[in-house]
Amino acid sequence: MIRSGLRRRARKDLASEDLSARLVTITEPLGGTSEAYRTLRTNLIYALVDEPPKLIALTSSGPTEGKSTTCANLGVVLAQAEKRTLIVDCDLRKPVLHKIFGLRNFRGLVNVLVGECSLQEVLQDGPLHNLQILTVGPIPPNPAELLSSKRFATFLAQVRREFDYVLLDTAPVELVSDAATLATQADGVLLVLDAQKTRKGELRQAVRSLQTVGANMLGTVVNNARFSKSRYYSGYRYNSRV
Ligand SMILES: Nc1ncnc2c1ncn2[C@@H]1O[C@H](COP(=O)(O)OP(=O)(O)O)[C@@H](O)[C@H]1O
Ligand SMILES: [Mg+2]
Repeated sequence: MIRSGLRRRARKDLASEDLSARLVTITEPLGGTSEAYRTLRTNLIYALVDEPPKLIALTSSGPTEGKSTTCANLGVVLAQAEKRTLIVDCDLRKPVLHKIFGLRNFRGLVNVLVGECSLQEVLQDGPLHNLQILTVGPIPPNPAELLSSKRFATFLAQVRREFDYVLLDTAPVELVSDAATLATQADGVLLVLDAQKTRKGELRQAVRSLQTVGANMLGTVVNNARFSKSRYYSGYRYNSRV
């Protein structure tokens, strides 16, 4: 666990929030939170040397626990370590990665899955040369169906060949089955929890749901944990028991 001085914005400020400010690994690379993301990266790269996970799904039990923020910053630090990294917005219901990275979202994953575009046509460059982002594109009426389709499996096989790491940002486990569907197709799952908000029961239920479908649980990311009145830390536990 690593301390940091990152301040979380109050809920009431969300409407006016500059979402790009969530990229603390770019805006404050020397801060404690960026260091925590680098520790997470180290664990991913070195802790599983025999079978390093390439396709990693990030999920949480409920909404707004920090999945997308973690996904974006983990992608940045992987790219900073010279890993060819792709972040895919797989939250087809509430996509947000295009906002975090300040990208357009007219076309994206959905267009690839319905056969309208090739992957190369919709990949967008992130803020680092070896970081690419795939936004959702138009919100589809049938997210669960798309994520369990053959085309999605083919898409994953393609990005597995072309990138060192592929991060899949997902919807919460408890709301819909999308995350469980993705978890079974990824090499491993990181479960993000908000230390101030996530209830133990919800976390246990999420772990159970993921284990039931046979997901490979890599560990939990503790987000927004208060260290003292004015300090927060993010942390990572490898293969933790929750
Ligand atoms: N570590 C963090 N530092 C600052 N703000 C955060 C952090 N994690 C989450 N937030 C804020 O909480 C809200 C939800 O985060 P998000 O990553 O979109 O969650 P999720 O993807 O789980 O719904 C956003 O407004 C985001 O800015
Ligand atoms: Mg999200």
